[in-house]
Parts: sequence; C-alpha cells; structure tokens
Amino acid sequence: MKNILVTGGAGYIGSHVAKKLAEAGFNVIVLDNLSKGHREAVLKGKLIVGDLADVDLLDRIMKEEGIEGVIHLAADSLVGESMEKPGKYYRNNVANGINLLEAMVNNGVEYIVFSSTAAVYGEPEEIPITESHPANPENTYGESKLFFEKILKRYDEIYNLRYVSLRYFNAAGADLSGQIGEAHDPETHLIPIVLEKALGVREKLYIFGADYPTKDGTCIRDYIHVEDLADAHILAIEALAAGLESRIYNLGNGEGYSVREVIEAAEEVTGKKIEAEIAGRRAGDPAVLVASSEKIKKELGWKPLYPDLKTIIESAWRWHKGGGFDGND
Ligand code: UFG
Repeated sequence: MKNILVTGGAGYIGSHVAKKLAEAGFNVIVLDNLSKGHREAVLKGKLIVGDLADVDLLDRIMKEEGIEGVIHLAADSLVGESMEKPGKYYRNNVANGINLLEAMVNNGVEYIVFSSTAAVYGEPEEIPITESHPANPENTYGESKLFFEKILKRYDEIYNLRYVSLRYFNAAGADLSGQIGEAHDPETHLIPIVLEKALGVREKLYIFGADYPTKDGTCIRDYIHVEDLADAHILAIEALAAGLESRIYNLGNGEGYSVREVIEAAEEVTGKKIEAEIAGRRAGDPAVLVASSEKIKKELGWKPLYPDLKTIIESAWRWHKGGGFDGND
C-alpha cells in the first residue's frame, strides 16, 4: 500500500498525520476544503482543495490518484457549535462521510482509519475509560462520530471495508520541528489559550468551573501529544493492510491533569505568571476524562514517546512563540 488519501490533512491533527505518513514513505494526497485547515500546514504530498460533498471529486481522486487507503479526519469538531447547529454536524460528519465510503467501495479501496473522539462516551461511569465503556454521547459532535462508527461497522459487514476508529482524548502540542501546530480560529482548547495568555495576545484566561469533584475542583483531562497521536494512524493503516480486522482504539496517555495543573505546567515552561479567573462551568464538560489505551499498545505496539505534560506544552510553546501560520488558509 502506497497511496493514501488524508481527508482534513490541512487541519491540526491531519497535518501531523500527513507529515508522518510522508516520512514513513507513503504517497500522501490531502483533501481539505480549507474551512479550518491551512494551506501552509501541508508540508509534504499533494493538496487537493475540495469538499466531501463533491461526490464526483471523490470518485476522481480515488481513480486518478490510485488511492489504496484512507485516513479520514475531515470534520467539524467544536462541541459548543454542535449544540447550536446540529444539522451542520450531521451533514458534514455523517452524510458527507458516507460519500467518502461510497467512493471507496466503488473504487475497491478497502481500508480506512477514522478520527473519532472521547466525546462518544459522554459522562464516564468509570475511569480509566476502556473501549467497552458504554457510548452515550452528550453532544451532537460526539454523536455524529458515533453514528459514523456504526456506519463503518455496517460497511465492513456488507462490503468488507475494514476500519480502525481512533477515539482521541485531548490532542495537544505541536510537531517538534516547529513547522506545524495548533491554529484554530476561534481557539477553544485549553493549552493554546493558556499560551496565548502567556504571550500577551489574549487578555483573559477563564477556568471553566472550580467546583468539580476533583482534587483541585477543576476538570481533569488526558492530554496526548499530537505526534504520538499521528503515529497511531500510521500503525493502524499498516495493520489494516497486513490483515487486521476492524477495531476501535482509545488514544490517550492514561494520566489525567487538572486545568490548574496545566496552567502551572505552562507557567514553568514559559517562565511567566499566567493569571486565570474562575468562571462558570462550560455546558457538557465531564469532570474527568482519562483513557485506557492498553488495547492499542497491546495489539499494535503503540507507545507514546512524549507522554509528559511539560514536553507537550513545551512543543506547543515553541510553536506559539513562532507566531503560527500567517493567513487563515
Ligand atoms: N477550559 C478552561 N478554559 C478555557 C478552555 C478550556 O477551563 O479557556 C477547560 C475545559 O472546561 C475543559 C479543559 O479545559 O475542562 C479542556 O478543554 P478543551 O476545550 O481543551 O478540551 P475538551 O476536553 O473540551 O475537548 C476535547 C476535544 C474535543 C472532544 C472532547 C471530548 O478537543 O474535540 O475533548 O470530550 F470532543
């Protein structure tokens, strides 16, 4: 297997995946509509600017590029927005995703790695969360990803389309080369927001809730370095090509850090005092989300190389200090 289509490959996680794939010797074709992605984030391989709604384009890409496997990250991924505009999430993350699967089936493409999320679990019943934990998403974003996992299961049964679904916990950090990193607009994620505050480009940093039943009252999350996350995609597509049956895997470090701990670690990394104000809880935030990633470690030999929170924040800091990307695309 050589020719891989990466949908959403100009986005934060997708650009890291595309870079690693190219470094591993694959021929990478990125499809991205640049609604959130950045042209400069595609460091290697070919960028096709287009949308999953374009059925003819998908068919043409499969044929003309000789696609043999797909890594599908193109999606809307803002939890808050998904509760205001559910139709957008069902359309882009579910319906348009089906266009991709149909194009794959029509062109004999057999393998797909899907970008899923911890948001499929909803409020956890136990920590750490394993893949067998019930999936009860509390927001449209998580539900759209769960729907797509179910569709994948059906396509496997009916067409023998094999998939690995990777349920990401909190992706963070930036490529160690400093060339690509997290650049969302608007930014909603904790680590970039904390670093923007440290840089002085953001006026206020709010802690969303200090009354959770956790050690310091703030929410606990499992932060995973985006490079470690990217590695898992390559292991997954290679394993599928080598005969792996369809699977779902969690991806996290198995270690939880509170919002306050993240801010303290960022203070150490940046050497700056980072002031934060307590604000109300953000709707839909579970108190604690920590993954068990034992399954992918055992089955695919995945091993996070940068599990340490400070290393994760250091890489993000290098990127943010460098100024990020210039334009919006
Ligand atoms: N937080 C703050 N202040 C901020 C931003 C975030 O206190 O300015 C807190 C949040 O309330 C949360 C924690 O920091 O407790 C982490 O928040 P993020 O927005 O960085 O990440 P989430 O855990 O909300 O979201 C991540 C992914 C989503 C995915 C979700 C699954 O980014 O795509 O996990 O629960 F859906």
